[in-house]
Amino acid sequence: MRFEIASSTWGQEEKDAVMEVLKGGSFTMGRNVAEFEEAFAGYFGMRHAVMANSGSSANLIAVASLFYRKDNPLKRGDEVIVPCVSWSTTFHPLHQYGLKLKFVDIDLETLSYDIGGLKKAVSKNTRMIVAVSILGNPCQFDEITGICGENNVVLFEDNCESMGARFNGRYTGTFGLINTFSTFFSHHISTMEGGFVLTDDKELYNILKSLRNHGWTRDQDPDSPIFERNGDDFFEAYRFILPGYNVRPGEMHGAIGKAQLSKLEGFVKVRRRNARHFKDLFRGDKRFITQKEIGESSWFSFTMIVNPDSGIERKRVLKRLKDAGIEHRIITGGNILRHDVVKYYDCEVTGSKNADIAHYNGFFVGNHPYDLRDKIDFLYETLKTV
Ligand SMILES: Cc1ncc(COP(=O)(O)O)c(C=O)c1O
Repeated sequence: MRFEIASSTWGQEEKDAVMEVLKGGSFTMGRNVAEFEEAFAGYFGMRHAVMANSGSSANLIAVASLFYRKDNPLKRGDEVIVPCVSWSTTFHPLHQYGLKLKFVDIDLETLSYDIGGLKKAVSKNTRMIVAVSILGNPCQFDEITGICGENNVVLFEDNCESMGARFNGRYTGTFGLINTFSTFFSHHISTMEGGFVLTDDKELYNILKSLRNHGWTRDQDPDSPIFERNGDDFFEAYRFILPGYNVRPGEMHGAIGKAQLSKLEGFVKVRRRNARHFKDLFRGDKRFITQKEIGESSWFSFTMIVNPDSGIERKRVLKRLKDAGIEHRIITGGNILRHDVVKYYDCEVTGSKNADIAHYNGFFVGNHPYDLRDKIDFLYETLKTV
């Protein structure tokens, strides 16, 4: 493969971190995870971080946690607004918890919410908006936080694709009441598998810790607001208060994460430099719609949508890429409404025209935290004569 979709971002530090854990002999969630959580929360300027074994698990416990708040919990049947384009596990937990999904179309240039469509979709039944910054590009958080504030609606940020991006100088993944991240292989930092929930809310934080860990009380804050200790150590050792899961990460994930986090800023800088080169080459090319940056994208990858007016068929472009050894994928997961799974959802669709264009005409190629200018030139040359 000449231009791969993702590559390892590990150096000697991550390998040393794994060896340290192996030597120490403690493998299940402990000190390294706790230190990584503290560093992660600190990096993004949030009070609390809970690490899970994937971004999907982070989404699962984040959705679940909102059902167990004392005040104003979500209830089955509540309406949640979601964009048509995101990853499958943005949607699945919402469905699994009995929420009604209201789909809103995307903007074809930014690939996140069409703000006009979002405003129209909010109803008196809307309880939550899920904002997904697509492939590094921040959502329009000024608009979205305004809509949430005016309508007293919870903002849930699935930031699994956009670690290190900023909107008005503030990191994405910090605008929501609850915010999720992924540290899977191809993402901005990688812990093999892994995910995070960030929140400033102490009640949610303690609920999340219990949900991650069998629903028990073992690692609750001493002043946890979600239960009262009964003083009997024997029963407290295995005391279950919530219908939780086991979605814990291991110590290696935590140790690797600490090493990776210290490199995040540098990684994002290089990704952004690569993006400038990509944008310079394809600027003004009417054949493709490339992603319009909002704020400071952390450029997960480079999206290209074959302009429907160009008369070019996507399959011709994809064949050219395949023959040249340039890996490519559908944008995020495409339009979820075009996947079989949607038949299980309780949902309403307010619009999906642009999501269909992204689904049927779009693709992305990889960005990496190293100098990619030669490969981007190669992409440009490969597509020049299509
Ligand atoms: C928007 C979004 N949400 C959730 C996830 C799930 O993350 P993970 O692969 O770590 O389970 C992904 C994965 O890439 C994603 O893109």
